[in-house]
Amino acid sequence: MTGRNGTMRITELLVNHMTSPLGIDDVFPGFSWILESGERHQSQTAYQILVGTDPAALADGHGDVWDSGIVATSRSVAVRYAGLPLEPRARYHWKVRAWNAHGQPTDWSQAAWFELGLLGARDWRAGWIAGAEAGAQAVMRFRKEFPLPQPATRARIYSTALGIYQLEVNGEPVCGDRLAPGWTDYRKRIQYQTYDVTALMRPGANVIGASLAPGWYAGRIGTAGRGLYGQHPALLVQLEITCADGRSLCVVTDPSWRSSAGPVVSADLLDGEVYDARRETPGWSRPGFNDLGWIQATRHEGPEGTLVAQAGPPVRVVKELKPVAVSSPRPGVRVFDLGQNMVGTVALKLRHGEAGARVIVRYGEVLDPGGMVYTENLRTARATDHYICGGQAEEAYEPSFTVHGFRHVEVTAEERCFGPDTVTGRVLSMDAPQAGTFVTSSAEINRLQENIVWSQRGNFLSIPTDCPQRDERLGWTGDVSVFAPTAVFNMDCSRFLGTKWLADLRDAQSDDGAVPDTAPRVPGVGGGNAGWGDAIVTVPYVIWQTYGDERTITDNFDAMMRWMGYLTAHSDRYLRPATGWGDWQPAGDGPPLDLVGTACFARSATLVAEMATVIGRHVEAGQMLELAGRVRSAFAGAYVAEDGSLAGDTQAGYVLALSFGLLPPRLRRKTAAHLARAVRAQGWRLTTGFLATPESLSALSGNDHLDAAYRLLGRPECPSWRYQVAQGGTTVWEHWDSVTPDGSPRDPAMNSFNHYANGAIGDWMYRNIAGINNDPERPGYAHVIIRPRPGGEFTSAAATFNSVHGMIECGWIFKAGMFTMTLRIPVNATATVYIPAHDETRVKEGGLQASSAEGVDFVRCENESAQFIVGSGRYYFEALLQFRSPQKHSVTLRIACCDCCLRSGNVQVSYLRRIAGILRA
Ligand code: BGC
Repeated sequence: MTGRNGTMRITELLVNHMTSPLGIDDVFPGFSWILESGERHQSQTAYQILVGTDPAALADGHGDVWDSGIVATSRSVAVRYAGLPLEPRARYHWKVRAWNAHGQPTDWSQAAWFELGLLGARDWRAGWIAGAEAGAQAVMRFRKEFPLPQPATRARIYSTALGIYQLEVNGEPVCGDRLAPGWTDYRKRIQYQTYDVTALMRPGANVIGASLAPGWYAGRIGTAGRGLYGQHPALLVQLEITCADGRSLCVVTDPSWRSSAGPVVSADLLDGEVYDARRETPGWSRPGFNDLGWIQATRHEGPEGTLVAQAGPPVRVVKELKPVAVSSPRPGVRVFDLGQNMVGTVALKLRHGEAGARVIVRYGEVLDPGGMVYTENLRTARATDHYICGGQAEEAYEPSFTVHGFRHVEVTAEERCFGPDTVTGRVLSMDAPQAGTFVTSSAEINRLQENIVWSQRGNFLSIPTDCPQRDERLGWTGDVSVFAPTAVFNMDCSRFLGTKWLADLRDAQSDDGAVPDTAPRVPGVGGGNAGWGDAIVTVPYVIWQTYGDERTITDNFDAMMRWMGYLTAHSDRYLRPATGWGDWQPAGDGPPLDLVGTACFARSATLVAEMATVIGRHVEAGQMLELAGRVRSAFAGAYVAEDGSLAGDTQAGYVLALSFGLLPPRLRRKTAAHLARAVRAQGWRLTTGFLATPESLSALSGNDHLDAAYRLLGRPECPSWRYQVAQGGTTVWEHWDSVTPDGSPRDPAMNSFNHYANGAIGDWMYRNIAGINNDPERPGYAHVIIRPRPGGEFTSAAATFNSVHGMIECGWIFKAGMFTMTLRIPVNATATVYIPAHDETRVKEGGLQASSAEGVDFVRCENESAQFIVGSGRYYFEALLQFRSPQKHSVTLRIACCDCCLRSGNVQVSYLRRIAGILRA
């Protein structure tokens, strides 16, 4: 190991996946750090963490609450705090150092901090208040004026609402968060937020102002109607101030707060807002405002649920979109095309509106034949904002208490109101870091990747929803179960899914262990269904695998075991009944429901067994292993024939059996051949639905039918991913043909243009086209499997993934018979790298024979790949491909193609042509 460019250093510190988080209520937070080095094959052999209350003492090397001591381990991810009990409200400072592979310590890292919020009922002094009655959907305002004798050295607001709320202090917004406190089952759990408002405090009179809308608490929810949790929104605010002289002050919600209706006459998440600018009361959240007309707030009994610190990232405006085109299909109507199907609101700028004139804003994902927005697919969601002008020369308005899913914005107003900036799209999403990037030589597949990300962005608001636009927008468990593996590649979902939504899911589980179809649970939605309820197993599995924190397993383990108990109790000799959604929305013959149910049952038992072992629950691990075996045998007995075919002979059946590992080894190849045959028999199209589509390509590519997988991905005609792109889709659609080949939308009853389930193929794209794979044996990407599988139309691909160990990068180009690959593996991780080559002597790294390059160990050649093990660092591999003689071509083809390709002469010729094309490029 020779030194290259310096030693190891610590570049990033995270607590529970956040940089210096404010207001956590986790008293055993997990510390992670990112290591960098210019040297190859560098790793951590030990660490030491110091945590203290005094930054100066910490700088001197003293941590008064925790000194971990020197711990000999490679672990740099989610190291649990194990010091003195952490106190509510307290800020702690921490730093870490690590020892490298040579046993040399790094310098101490920069210090970072984390601050606790309130930890339980005893820390709350505020009482819940409600506003004056002003119509069930009105947005109420509250204000409290209070004197501050001294400058504040520290001021924190701890606040939440039954409804959705926004705060102002002395006329300034406290934050840019939207839709706080987020959707949870308020009967069980309400998230509170913590804001640092020190800079907004001033000596003398101060004001806190709050706006409170019905939101999920009292407004319309999906299919459940209005007022699911209660009729009256309520507010809870506790402002704690420390003054320069050490005195402290606490301002809390109580009936001394004053309340009034504001300009938002009504607000609803599904229906939109009505805003009357004539009712604006400038200065209402500043000192000295005359609130004589306001009335006293009333006490509200508050919720049954417990208060917890916000677990997931807040919803914020993450992007702005300017219109790419404007049309005027009717007098007084302008339709703005934002060029992208998005979720959020608009910022409106209007001119010369007469006081009382009404501006109507409607939203649609596509246009109707007359050029107006098409809203039939929104069903009963009115998704309309009304702005009643105040009569100013210029007026600006942005709805704050509603969300729409749209690309086109239709504004009806007097002609003179329109100006150059009438509409700006304000994109809302969870505000979490991007995780991955993915780009290839195919413009269509790049657009597909963008569409997937846009659908994730628009459906990850507080909870993962099926769709963001129609009167549904529910946390359908099946959708996120299939999409989670893709979601974690695109964005950091550690908190959104791993902390927040899994808590929603546990809250939603029934006493009998059934996991419902949506979380939060809503009336009229069932539970216990295959593929949907299994989210309680699959989502923790993905989160644990991605972020490497076993606490994901321990937090969810009881819930998983109860789900397994439910499945066992509701099966007959290990076969599940013919109930549930099956392979929902199949594009052809769907598999028998009991087959789907039994397949999901076996897979969940297998995953729970694996997770139980990891957390040392060996009894349960044994039970689950045995259960998995029995379910697999029952599956084989009931559905699998000796020739490898399955009952129903459906593509989905084959996909699930292959992907969930349900087949006896001797039948795998045969079953895979049946799948390939079934796909070919349909003219190379999928007939699968929500559960099988995401697994379809891996079932093929993982079983010697890589070419068939690429054919499906490359298929331009409907049904296919590329068809949606060719039709101009900018998000993933609920149906392959949400826009039918004649350009018209299909049946509006179930037709979302922003439904990520079929976008779950993103996971396969990252893994197979770009080649970045986690190693299930070493969670958290401690070991990475780099295995691009070039094929189809692709001549290059590149992806990055910001793992908990640091940035992984892999990019390859296939040109003039050469395969070249650049690679970056973070410190404290290793990788197995597969290079397409018949023998290792044809592979170079950094210009040298790869097997003798620094930090590169040759393992073996197998299945047309040379395998190497590398440590951290940047690498440049080159391989001369051996497609020289026609003889060699056909040898390669026999291995690379599926059996049915070989049988069909035409297919082989077209494949040959494609390979030749790639080689020419
Ligand atoms: C949703 C789906 C969901 C399904 C359950 C639909 O209405 O939009 O995405 O999973 O119901 O079958």
